[in-house]
Amino acid sequence: MSEITFKSHKVTCHPDETLLDALLREKIDVQFGCKAGSCHTCLMKSADQPPPAKAQEGLKPTQKQQKYFLACICKPEQDMTVSPANDSEQFITKATVLEKQPLNDDVIQLKLKCHDSISFKPGQFVNLKKPDGLSRSYSVANTPNEDNILEFHIRSLPGGQFSQWAKNELEVGEQIPVSEPKGDCFYIPERQNQGLLLIGTGTGLAPLLGIIKDALAQQHSGPIHLLHGSRNKKGLYHIDEMKTLAEQYPNFHYTACVSGEMPEKDFEQGRVNEIALNKINDLKGWRVYLCGHPEMVNDTKKQAFLKGASMQDIFSDPFLVTQNEEK
Ligand SMILES: Cc1cc2nc3c(=O)[nH]c(=O)nc-3n(C[C@H](O)[C@H](O)[C@H](O)COP(=O)(O)OP(=O)(O)OC[C@H]3O[C@@H](n4cnc5c(N)ncnc54)[C@H](O)[C@@H]3O)c2cc1C
Ligand code: FES
Repeated sequence: MSEITFKSHKVTCHPDETLLDALLREKIDVQFGCKAGSCHTCLMKSADQPPPAKAQEGLKPTQKQQKYFLACICKPEQDMTVSPANDSEQFITKATVLEKQPLNDDVIQLKLKCHDSISFKPGQFVNLKKPDGLSRSYSVANTPNEDNILEFHIRSLPGGQFSQWAKNELEVGEQIPVSEPKGDCFYIPERQNQGLLLIGTGTGLAPLLGIIKDALAQQHSGPIHLLHGSRNKKGLYHIDEMKTLAEQYPNFHYTACVSGEMPEKDFEQGRVNEIALNKINDLKGWRVYLCGHPEMVNDTKKQAFLKGASMQDIFSDPFLVTQNEEK
């Protein structure tokens, strides 16, 4: 057991308990999002002991040196004095809501204009923060532009604190804080004749759109296959836009997949990952991008590897949601 000092609190962290869970157990107000080491919302700094190496996975070397760590994956090995990372380090700019419109019954498209210049790679994600301080990660769906506009596709989850607020309360003209862009799921302009296989479920299309537009703008010459899946047709969006892109670029191929209803013309029926891996049977030499439902992403990662893709060529963003009754 370790004793954690956090502001004026002293909390005992049990073996096998994360530092974040120990603080939440004591009803201490701390920020968190995915609880899986992805979103970096729970970033903290140790004032004394170096944090366990596992708790620093995914941080920059400079952050590691300064004893920053992620509380949600930190199982302390000794007593620690910790504090939340400086908020201003995470949220680098404010942004004004320019546009908000439905993409389908469950998904809204949000366009934000950042007040400061923001540099990102298409496919990365940022954290957005509500006025009450709750933040969640969302993938950027567009490519960098002079106006510093970021586009997001946000799916409303029943009872979802951020997504319902974004759908029902957030208004055009309001301002929200935006974190620095994160993640390594983006296009790299090398081996441009390599095949690219992109598989997304639901709003997993958002990062893939940015990646595809970037690859096409950088004249990627290899085949680019996008497969977008949902349970039914209503869960898909941007179908016409994708078809138009496929008409414009002969090396871009688009397949819309539905798993739960009889297919209509132009749709394929079945799980998107199974359809994709049947279509491209040998993935040796291919680059694979997987975004959306965590189970689909994790299963497909293994399947793509078994079909010949190198682990170094598989990029993914599982859209982890907070799996806890305490939010
Ligand atoms: C790297 C990354 C990128 C992401 N990008 C996007 C993105 O581009 N677009 C996007 O929409 N989301 C994205 N997400 C997910 C997003 O961060 C939020 O987790 C999501 O919007 C839910 O937040 P919330 O506050 O609305 O829900 P919360 O208040 O956190 O509630 C989530 C709760 O909903 C429940 N739940 C989970 N799945 C379902 C389901 N299918 N149906 C009903 N209930 C469910 C869970 O039990 C969970 O407790 C991303 C996540 C990560 C980690
Ligand atoms: S990284 Fe800890 S809550 Fe997301």
